[in-house]
Amino acid sequence: MNYETLPNGLRVPKIGFGCWKIGGEDSPNPSLDGWSLAALRSALELGYTHFDTAEMYARGHSEELTGQAVRESGIDREKLLITSKVTPSNLGYETVLRACEGSLRRLQMDYLDIYLIHWPSANMPLEATFRAFNQLVAEGKVRHVGVSNFSVEQLRRSQALSATPIVTNQVPYSLGDRSYVKNGMLAYCQANDILLTAYSPVEQGGLKVNSALQSVAAAHSATAQQIALAWLVQQPRVITIPMSGNPKHQADNLAAAEIVLTPAEIAALG
Ligand SMILES: NC(=O)c1ccc[n+]([C@@H]2O[C@H](COP(=O)([O-])OP(=O)(O)OC[C@H]3O[C@@H](n4cnc5c(N)ncnc54)[C@H](OP(=O)(O)O)[C@@H]3O)[C@@H](O)[C@H]2O)c1
Repeated sequence: MNYETLPNGLRVPKIGFGCWKIGGEDSPNPSLDGWSLAALRSALELGYTHFDTAEMYARGHSEELTGQAVRESGIDREKLLITSKVTPSNLGYETVLRACEGSLRRLQMDYLDIYLIHWPSANMPLEATFRAFNQLVAEGKVRHVGVSNFSVEQLRRSQALSATPIVTNQVPYSLGDRSYVKNGMLAYCQANDILLTAYSPVEQGGLKVNSALQSVAAAHSATAQQIALAWLVQQPRVITIPMSGNPKHQADNLAAAEIVLTPAEIAALG
């Protein structure tokens, strides 16, 4: 696995595991527990070490199942990176502290590696949010902080308020969605040692396969989804977190980090 290492020492694998739909979607769906735990177990066995969840996912049930799978795996907590996120309605000082306690309780963990603001909200109280984030870092409950779905302007404000470096902005990024390249976010992250965490990297299963993608995939004996991931993670400061419940796809996605595309292939995909 290839990694991104930030100046503050944080080392994150280029490809991690997304936990949206683990445990349900907008609310817990216990009928999915067997499927969810099997997906997490195989991801842990295959060697995924970065798991991306949120209090919003299945209203906390994604965090519960992620914590359960990690405990049952017997893997040392320190060898894993766990990201979770606070929902936009909880961005006040007290509510952030309570939300973080809730995430830690559901995960049954002592700390989060990375804690993100899930979405910006209208009139979000960023000063209060970062007062709480800074306190959580000082108390050791959170190791690193970041944001998600933020504009360059919102990211700049966050940097000014955070006592520790903002380590990531998690945004949609894929072959078919380059909106955060066009709006300058990728260049800003690369210039400021911030990871751009690409979510929905295979377009939620709907990756569009044109002839260029097809021929690059054939040249590497790879799938189109693997090339889509390789294209992302070959870019400096870009990491990604595909979700899959299928062990074959999970293994393919991890292996995509090893595929090296030529400049001509990258140009063809562009
Ligand atoms: N911060 C945010 O606002 C935000 C928003 C959306 C997502 N996220 C995060 O990003 C993660 C990933 O995004 P996502 O779940 O929206 O979309 P995604 O990872 O682009 O797509 C997941 C879908 O793609 C399929 N898939 C995955 N790998 C495949 C492969 N190698 N070959 C064929 N199909 C494949 C999966 O089906 P199978 O199960 O059949 O493989 C699944 O249906 C989420 O789980 C979540 O952690 C964050």
